[in-house]
Amino acid sequence: MMEVIKIEGGHELNGTISVGGSKNATVALIPAAVLACGGEIKIYGVPEIDDVENLINLLKELNVKVDYDGKDSISIVTDDMVNIPLESKAVTKLRASYYFMGALLGKYKRVQMKMPGGCYLGPRPIDLHLKGFEALGATVTYEQGSYIIEAKELIGNKIYLDFASVGATINIMFAAVYAQGKTVIENAAKEPEIIDVATMLNKMGANIKGAGTSMITIEGVECLVGCTHEIIPDRIVAGTYLILASAMAKEVTIENIIPHHLESLISKLQEMGVKMDVGIDTIKVSRAEKLTSVDINTQPYPGFATDLQQPLTTLLTQAEGTSIVRENIYTERFKHCLELQRMGADIQLSPAQATIEGPTPLDGDYVTATDLRCGASLIVAGLIAKGVTTIQDIYHIDRGYDNIDEKLRAIGANIWRATEKKD
Ligand code: EPU
Repeated sequence: MMEVIKIEGGHELNGTISVGGSKNATVALIPAAVLACGGEIKIYGVPEIDDVENLINLLKELNVKVDYDGKDSISIVTDDMVNIPLESKAVTKLRASYYFMGALLGKYKRVQMKMPGGCYLGPRPIDLHLKGFEALGATVTYEQGSYIIEAKELIGNKIYLDFASVGATINIMFAAVYAQGKTVIENAAKEPEIIDVATMLNKMGANIKGAGTSMITIEGVECLVGCTHEIIPDRIVAGTYLILASAMAKEVTIENIIPHHLESLISKLQEMGVKMDVGIDTIKVSRAEKLTSVDINTQPYPGFATDLQQPLTTLLTQAEGTSIVRENIYTERFKHCLELQRMGADIQLSPAQATIEGPTPLDGDYVTATDLRCGASLIVAGLIAKGVTTIQDIYHIDRGYDNIDEKLRAIGANIWRATEKKD
């Protein structure tokens, strides 16, 4: 038996929906907390997602004291922490477990852990993370499925990233906060989550400058301590809500949003003809008369986010004309298109590209969330489709969307969970 999400499509959405804290910031902030040598790290705005539960399990393995209220705030105290190998199943349940590599290496000069897991989006190497650790003086060995990364001492260095990788930028910051002297990351990723992580580390006593630009400088310090931090809103969840509102809203207001983080999506939606009223921390979407096709080219921030490519593809099936989606970050991130085709979408796939002809009606069917944002794209499809859509493997969705069914029900969607036999 397995849990599924069922959606009866065609219901107009009306009301206000609120965005929680950013998943991709949270999953780095929790490992960042282990860098403290004392004091309590209190983080607010923690989203209720399964990735948080998995990270808490990893903290517990390290004997870190965690107090999570299951809703909004987490308290982390590292006084009795031990640096044991991280080789349990929890490591493989999410990608972000790799942040313990940088954090434990930074704090203890040694880490042993399994290869992280996460959504399959094609190959996801971690060579840039490892090169960064090596540039700081660490040696990396891989034995029996585990990495052992260790250093006598870590010494600041200049590190140029061949690609502006989010994970490598954050992991190198973690490894460098206690390194001797200055580390400079060139061609650093500029995502808002990186600024959030650097902000919390600086509150803890780190000396990081330039986060949010392509050059980040980290001056090593002696000791990090406790602090209080509020996580930024999740721009990908906010973007998903904007997209589903663009398809089905009578009038939907999305609140707790930083519109600046969503500029590339907002301008694409405007180009499609979506009516939006952008406020300081809210966006109101009203139903458009007609949607027109647009082309999308995914890029690192501030370019169009690869994580929003999947839900936007669903909306493009409702737009008049031909849309071309080029995926430049994860060239195989198109599994959602196969599910959308089952529902009636006209999508042609070629390497790293999807061509969508619209508008096409969508029909409810049994579909599978093959990864987190595929799940989001299928929720959008289910809201639009005629009849009932049943989404399987919803554990992917629960890794990143906090109570999405409950929140959508509150604005008029007919969406519910059920238990069914796996087909
Ligand atoms: N890359 C390498 N070598 C590396 C690291 C990355 O070749 O050592 C390549 C990747 O294969 C990919 C590109 O660089 O082609 C970008 O990867 P990046 O490291 O930036 O991605 P990530 O840190 O693994 C984060 C998010 C992803 C999001 C990407 C891109 C987290 C936990 N994950 O992944 O989020 O798609 O950045 O913005 O922050 C999601 O939320 O659904 C998700 C997959």
